[in-house]
This record gives sequence, structure tokens and C-alpha cells, in this order.
Amino acid sequence: MIFSSLHFTPAIEKILTADGSYTCRHPGYKENYHAKEGARAEAFAKFIRPGRLAERLRAGPVRVLDVGFGLGVNVMAAIEVARETGGHPLRMDTVEADADALPRARALAPACPVLSTLESTGQWRDALVEVALFHADIRRAVTTLPGNYDLIFHDPFSAMKNTECWTVELFARFKPLLKADGMLLTYAEADAVRAGLFQAGFSVGLTPPAPPHRGGTLAVPLPAHAPDPIDPEPYTHPPKSIAYHDFTLKEDGKTIRARREAQVRTLSSAEEEGSANRRIGGAEGG
Ligand SMILES: C[S@@+](CC[C@H](N)C(=O)[O-])C[C@H]1O[C@@H](n2cnc3c(N)ncnc32)[C@H](O)[C@@H]1O
Repeated sequence: MIFSSLHFTPAIEKILTADGSYTCRHPGYKENYHAKEGARAEAFAKFIRPGRLAERLRAGPVRVLDVGFGLGVNVMAAIEVARETGGHPLRMDTVEADADALPRARALAPACPVLSTLESTGQWRDALVEVALFHADIRRAVTTLPGNYDLIFHDPFSAMKNTECWTVELFARFKPLLKADGMLLTYAEADAVRAGLFQAGFSVGLTPPAPPHRGGTLAVPLPAHAPDPIDPEPYTHPPKSIAYHDFTLKEDGKTIRARREAQVRTLSSAEEEGSANRRIGGAEGG
């Protein structure tokens, strides 16, 4: 699902989240951009802290790929950390498919100079941080992004609605974009997402819950070991192994979902048939 329109200032309903920061609802996906528990806090809980951004910035220059600029909350949080840390430079490449995202972000924070510069030029920089905004579908952008990333903040809408962003094939494209000690982070916890990351060749781990925020998932390129690793074995057979696929990286979310649902249905009918056969066999045997 790709949304685009001419630039305008959208009428948005600001939603106040529990930490005092604002979010809003996407009219097409019908999901909020952030958790009601706190938009800003979520950026720190799901991406900044488990990615050890401050520690990485103290050690050397850091490059981040931010998937789904949205309202710019993750980008602003990373800028804040770079300024506080005062360490090495931070470069962020942020990809957004929806032309209305930046106008929405600006409507929520009209006085933010980072957002206004990004909207007019697609770039922003100061002495420590450089941000480049790519208006593109991440599935196209992955072929041209420079790579060498320390972190990927993977933050699309949910796999149930924004399915094209959660496939084995997209995850496999992310892997060579990461440095050997790089890490992909996401808020998602679904088995289909974790299976997709395993199948794309990552070692997969848990990001810790930061109440009231739930934990998420992290992935590091093999042969590195993920911190707090998830045992891959249950993800090697169904139902946990049934991931989302987009073999051409061009399919729409509905097609991708339908393919996975068909696999799940086939599995459940095979299981039902198997247990019926076992019951018949047991009756005959008895
Ligand atoms: C949950 S919001 C991201 C919130 C954002 N990270 C922030 O900090 O405000 C998900 C974003 O992903 C974008 N998106 C969805 N599909 C995409 C795709 N195929 N390529 C790039 N961006 C996409 C949506 O338009 C939306 O802005």
C-alpha cells in the first residue's frame, strides 16, 4: 500500500501519548504512528537503547538506516542522543513512501527546524548529524542505499496492514547493508516476522521490555550472535516457520498476506486430517 498526494497541510487529529509527546492516526492504514504509551519513549525503548546508539557514538561515527520516517520521532530521538553524547558524527538515511508523512509531522511540530528543512530540501545537517530523507518505497530504495549501516530502525506499520515491509526477501536485502557488527531493530514480536529474519540469514534476539512498552526483536548478521538470542529451532518447522514472502519485491500486501494465510490453512487442514486418521487408526486398533 503506497500513499502519495500533492503536498498540503493535512487536517490531523493530534493524539497525546502517555509521555506527553504526540502522534496521530494514518487514515489509510488505520493505525496510529506510535504506541499510546508514549511516542518519544517508544523510540528510546525499541530502537535507541537496544541499539546502544549512545555507546556506538562514543566509539566512532555511526550510520543508521531508518525505515519509515513517519512523523520523524525516531530521527529526532537519534539527533537528541547524538547532541547529548557529543561524540562522533551520526549519519541517518531515512526512507518514507508516503508523501503526506512529512506534512503530517510538520502539522504536529510546526516549529521544528529539522522537519521544515527536511521538507523543503530532503536533507538536514549540523556539526554532528546529517540526515538524508529518501521519498521511496523501501523495496526500491534498498537497491540504491549506500549501506555500511551500524543500525537499521525497522518501523513500518504492523505486519497485518503493511505486510510488504515484513518479508524474507526484504530482510535478505537489509543484511548486506549492515556492518558485520550492525543490528536491525524492530518493535514487532510476531512469529512470522521472526521466522522471516531467521530465513533471511540473521541471528535473532529479544529487545527487553521497558514497561509500559513491550519488548521487540533484534537481528544481527550471522555469524555474529544476537544478544538475548531466540532459539531458531522452533522456527524451522510450521507453524512458526511460516513467514511472509514477496519474491519479486513488488507484490502488494494483500497478495503477500493471502499467500501466507493459504499456507496456514493448508497446514491446519493437514493437521486435522492427521488427527482424524490417528483417531480412526486408534478406534480400529482398539
Ligand atoms: C509506524 S510509522 C513510522 C513512525 C516513525 N518511525 C516515527 O518515528 O515517527 C510507519 C511508516 O512507514 C511508512 N511506510 C510504509 N510502507 C513503506 C514502504 N514500503 N517504504 C517506506 N516507508 C513505508 C509509512 O508511510 C509510515 O510513515
